[in-house]
Amino acid sequence: MATILLIFILLLLPLLLYIIKTRFQTLPLPPGPKGYPIIGNILMNNHLTHRGLMQLSLNYGGLLHLRLGFLHTIAISTPQMAQQVLQHQDLLFSNRPATLAIKYLTYNRADMAFAHYGPFWRQMRKLCVVNLFSRHRAESWSSVREEIDKTIQTIFVSFSHHRCVNHGETVFNLTKNITFRAAFGSQSHEEQDKFIEILQEFSKLFGAFNVGDFIPWLGWLDLQGLNKRLVRARVSLDKFIDRIIDEHMKKPKAIDAVDADMVDVMLAFLDDDESKLMKDDDELKASLKLTRDNIKAIIMDVMFGGTETVASAIEWAMAELLHSPGEMAIVQAELASVVGLHRQVLDSDLDHLRHLKRAIKETLRLHPPIPLLLHETSQPTQLSGFFIPSKSRVMINAFAIGRDPSSWKDPNSFRPSRFAPGGDAEGIDFKGNFFELIPFGSGRRSCPGMQLGLYGLELAVAQLLHCFTWELPDGMRPEELDMEDVFGLTAPKAVRLCAVPTYRLTCSLV
Ligand code: HEM
Repeated sequence: MATILLIFILLLLPLLLYIIKTRFQTLPLPPGPKGYPIIGNILMNNHLTHRGLMQLSLNYGGLLHLRLGFLHTIAISTPQMAQQVLQHQDLLFSNRPATLAIKYLTYNRADMAFAHYGPFWRQMRKLCVVNLFSRHRAESWSSVREEIDKTIQTIFVSFSHHRCVNHGETVFNLTKNITFRAAFGSQSHEEQDKFIEILQEFSKLFGAFNVGDFIPWLGWLDLQGLNKRLVRARVSLDKFIDRIIDEHMKKPKAIDAVDADMVDVMLAFLDDDESKLMKDDDELKASLKLTRDNIKAIIMDVMFGGTETVASAIEWAMAELLHSPGEMAIVQAELASVVGLHRQVLDSDLDHLRHLKRAIKETLRLHPPIPLLLHETSQPTQLSGFFIPSKSRVMINAFAIGRDPSSWKDPNSFRPSRFAPGGDAEGIDFKGNFFELIPFGSGRRSCPGMQLGLYGLELAVAQLLHCFTWELPDGMRPEELDMEDVFGLTAPKAVRLCAVPTYRLTCSLV
């Protein structure tokens, strides 16, 4: 009897501590749907998507609170609130939340994307911005151009056989090849397929619902058997990347060699005695030293940050333009006049393709590839007179913000000319200065790969539209095109876009 009582008290203790802690706050929590004792709003888990949260914000406003078990969750859905969080109080909101699975798969936040804000993150970010994603990292940029050229060749073959092109698959292959080459240099197709399998399992584990994330003292139950899958996934990644690292170590390259890939660059920072390295170590602050775990975790950041995001944006841009043939005609007329039908698009043309850039901006407004930006508070604070507890998970809904009716005229229409001179959104850019358009975030945690991502996105869409005219298959009318999305790490089209190409240049492709 005494044992049962003891177990009962132990189980209730965290709940009592939690009640005591939250009772003494003076300001109220932001509004939100009422939850149940202990589990809070966990049963509303299916609302935690960009669309679900946007819907809830219609009832509760731009600042919304949900309690998922013991986890305070805040959803931000207006530009004004986003500015508070990403600019006015950015220091307090710059940590990243991570589930148990994410912590394990990122070698306990040994990467940049999931590292909390601090000296370690700053060093990792500097490494990425200066050495991995910058303009002078020629290999990352030239692999973009070469892989797009290969894709255009493949589409040309489909055209010769009057075949429909599955854009979803084609562009995902394209961006996967770009990031894979930029990270590892050239590897065989089998190696690439093996790596994709590992990525897919990581992706599933990242998104898996684990009760231990919300009610920590139930974590040990591991009801879904996730722990074994996590261990297996990390072992596969270790095996895969360790072999590549060993191969690279046998043929070291200078950090500024033209053909140096990301592994080569990061190896230049590898510490000989990895065991003495600790994150946030004072020594690390002075000079960056990496462990193998850091290298693996950063590679995963690049794979997840740079592959699906760019692919989803290319597919959505093509889908929106096929959905609005008038807009497609304007972009293609611009390409014909700026580039000319006698040659393909060059990098130097991109700056002159104003309407194409507006169409891409409008695509990123309607379909931000990462619709929910995930942040965490490092201390308790207040927003608009409401209490925000420490370690709250903060979801900034870039999707809802891009369609906020008080910021955008006809928020759900695809209208690139809104950004043209004299248009109702003239001058608004997506670089983080305008909080009504934040597809790359804003402030400290904003996307460090924006330039690289935009280059791939603009060049791919420009080449697809310049080299081919596109028609929907089987006489489908533009208004019949399915424009639904699905929520995952990104929000790609639910039904893959298929369209039939006709080659439109006067020059030969080979
Ligand atoms: C169209 C393309 C892309 C879009 C729309 C995009 C968008 C974003 C967004 C919204 C964030 C989070 C911002 C926040 O939390 O406030 C982010 C972070 C990040 N992105 Fe991108 N991204 C793109 C391409 C890329 C590429 C090509 C790379 C790498 C080569 C990359 C690497 C990263 C990394 C590492 C982070 C985490 C930064 C940190 O936590 O400090 N992204 N990106």
